[in-house]
Amino acid sequence: MFNSKITGIGHYVPNHIVTNHDLEKIMDTSDEWIQERTGIRERRFYKPPEKGSTAKMAFNASKMAMKRAGVTADDIDAIVFATLSPDYYFPGSGVLLQHMLEMGTKPAIDIRAQCSGFIYSLSVADQFIKTGMYNKILVIGSETQSVGIDLTTRGRDMSVLFGDGAGAVVLEATEEKGKGILSTHLYSQGEFAEALYKRDPGTGRENINYRGMHEDYECNSPQMDGQLVFKNAITRMPEATMEALAKNNLTTEDIDMFLPHQANLRISHTVQRFLKLPDEKVYNNIQKYGNTTAATLPILLSDLWEQGRIKEGQLFAIAAFGSGFTWASALIRW
Ligand code: UT7
Repeated sequence: MFNSKITGIGHYVPNHIVTNHDLEKIMDTSDEWIQERTGIRERRFYKPPEKGSTAKMAFNASKMAMKRAGVTADDIDAIVFATLSPDYYFPGSGVLLQHMLEMGTKPAIDIRAQCSGFIYSLSVADQFIKTGMYNKILVIGSETQSVGIDLTTRGRDMSVLFGDGAGAVVLEATEEKGKGILSTHLYSQGEFAEALYKRDPGTGRENINYRGMHEDYECNSPQMDGQLVFKNAITRMPEATMEALAKNNLTTEDIDMFLPHQANLRISHTVQRFLKLPDEKVYNNIQKYGNTTAATLPILLSDLWEQGRIKEGQLFAIAAFGSGFTWASALIRW
């Protein structure tokens, strides 16, 4: 049986930077509130003349990941694509990326697990490689949040949090024992589906108009019970990380780097405290990108790759929590 390991990482964010001060001009908010409650200073949004989409950002991130892995699209056997903001309601963005990469008839699988989407996708790709079905898989997280959020005072509790971006990794089979993805741990709890959700264009209710959109504001924009999400995030991420460590007979002291999903710097700091990890073993970049949902973890990885902070033999723990609720963790030995 093979293991899978990450051989290349890439990311892409739109050029246009939106600072907290920019948001102050279009809604009743303040740089002070946003920084104090979330740690975010700026995020990226697509803005004309730059033309983009979830699939196009994924294309750019994939090109970088494949270049760094020393492979081309011809070498890739399949795509696993995580997003909550696809280009179309259907089909998913995976096939759009597959077409852009000129991958003939190779399969593209779309994963809908929101902020946990990247770890869910990594897990799916890992199983395909472990069973020998595929040899090299592109795993993507990509999000265009800027078009789906309410950038007025009414939507400020949600809209100041999110940003656009994409990250990608090349996952390859390896015969090296004890290297690569050591294990993945996935969870969901659908009773909390409506604690963080966007209802339209869903099909599960009456009174939709001819455009498939409900008249109510609550159906058309993302809704969140922020404090409930916060409370669950700070317990579920450490829990899933501890489970991953126990499964591999490791402890928090073995971790060289911990990457928490970037939803709120206060959440990251609390999780860090629960895991008793020193600052130098945790990396956050929410300050400059906001919450990019499924793209967050591969963007963090790509950032560290660029800084030369991923070294052979190191142990990385990654964890995510989000809408669903879904949550997940993974251990990676480089
Ligand atoms: O990635 C998916 C997972 N998402 C998360 O993990 C998010 C989890 N939740 C959170 O991070 C936090 O709950 C938030 C950052 C969303 C909100 O922080 P909070 O400390 O829970 O604030 P709050 O919702 O209790 O609101 C406090 C006050 C309210 O005003 P009043 O009622 O006290 O007068 C809000 O209306 O802050 C107000 N407020 C704002 N003020 C300025 C809410 N949003 C804003 C804003 N700017 N953008």
